[in-house]
Amino acid sequence: MKSARTKRVGILTGGGDCPGLNAVIRAVTKTLIHDYDCEVLGVEDGFEGMVEGRIRKLSNADVSGILATGGTILGTSNKGDPWHYPRKDPDGNVVISDTSAQAMANYRKWKLDALITIGGDGTMTISHKLAGLGANIVGVPKTIDNDLEATDVTFGHDSAVNVISMAIDILHTTASSHHRVMVIEVMGRYAGWLALSGGLAGGADVILIPEISFQWEPLCHVIHERSHHGKRFSIVCVSEGAKCPGVGEIVKEYDCKRTDAKQLGGVGAYVARKISEATDVETRVTVLGHLQRGGSPTSCDRILATRFGVLAARLAMAGQFDRMVALHGNRVEPVLITDAICHQKLVKPDNQEVLAARSVGTSFGDMI
Ligand code: F6P
Repeated sequence: MKSARTKRVGILTGGGDCPGLNAVIRAVTKTLIHDYDCEVLGVEDGFEGMVEGRIRKLSNADVSGILATGGTILGTSNKGDPWHYPRKDPDGNVVISDTSAQAMANYRKWKLDALITIGGDGTMTISHKLAGLGANIVGVPKTIDNDLEATDVTFGHDSAVNVISMAIDILHTTASSHHRVMVIEVMGRYAGWLALSGGLAGGADVILIPEISFQWEPLCHVIHERSHHGKRFSIVCVSEGAKCPGVGEIVKEYDCKRTDAKQLGGVGAYVARKISEATDVETRVTVLGHLQRGGSPTSCDRILATRFGVLAARLAMAGQFDRMVALHGNRVEPVLITDAICHQKLVKPDNQEVLAARSVGTSFGDMI
């Protein structure tokens, strides 16, 4: 039965992209149109579009055929935090200002009954702040890093892990032919989930993550030991946020337009140089970079993204706001956004994947 006024629901994708965003947009839009006869509006380029007032209507046809495509049809931005909004002054200097009132004015102008925000910790933090100003928000957890609390996993992570393990498979053959150490640098600023799961799936000999401090001696000992046992090559999988002894994390640059200005990069090259100096074994570096964020989602991510999207649409219609959808075991259910942003989900030293990796002889560079 039709309600008195057609409800209008907005949807946006915030922060870095990842495989599965389009699958969520499709699921939200189809559910809201088919089951609730809603009007669905897509905000362009994340919160930037909310501040600047860029929105468009989404129809069934707009979301047809996008389940398997990477990226986001709505566009995204990691420089659109309304509370930390970069603009150029007349002299061309970047000035950061609070544009939250403008974002809320657009929310009201668009007459939205709810806004579904898809993103990671940054997006969820902004979403909760907007909820505090009166916006009816439902969050959907996305990030290849998998570092969001209150959900077992975020969509996008499985696709990125798949890319890492495929890359390690490929590197194995050339590492073995040339008797080299191959260092592969993967994403993961503060949490090592990508290096851990990708390294475990690819059979890396060494995994270096931000949560486990490593030392050069145990790391190089692994390379020596493997040569000693006739394995004249090794694979080292390192998180971009791994902290090198005496140096800490390696920062590539700072971008003041972002809420978290620090951009990491370069740890792979640093680790490779240290290994070749200490062992005299030839090393090469592969930085996987944005290959991990692009492309088609795995079937796991397509299913999870669809389940998340459907529940987010239903929560929006049920008036359950300031909530995020989450996976617990095999169930998708709502949690408070505050539970997701209270702290980052980091790898614990006694995590089962860490213990399994150690049992099959993978080193974390922390002990001989
Ligand atoms: O948050 C996801 C992430 O993939 C991080 O692991 C990485 O540091 C960052 O995005 C890079 O984002 P960008 O190149 O878009 O600034």
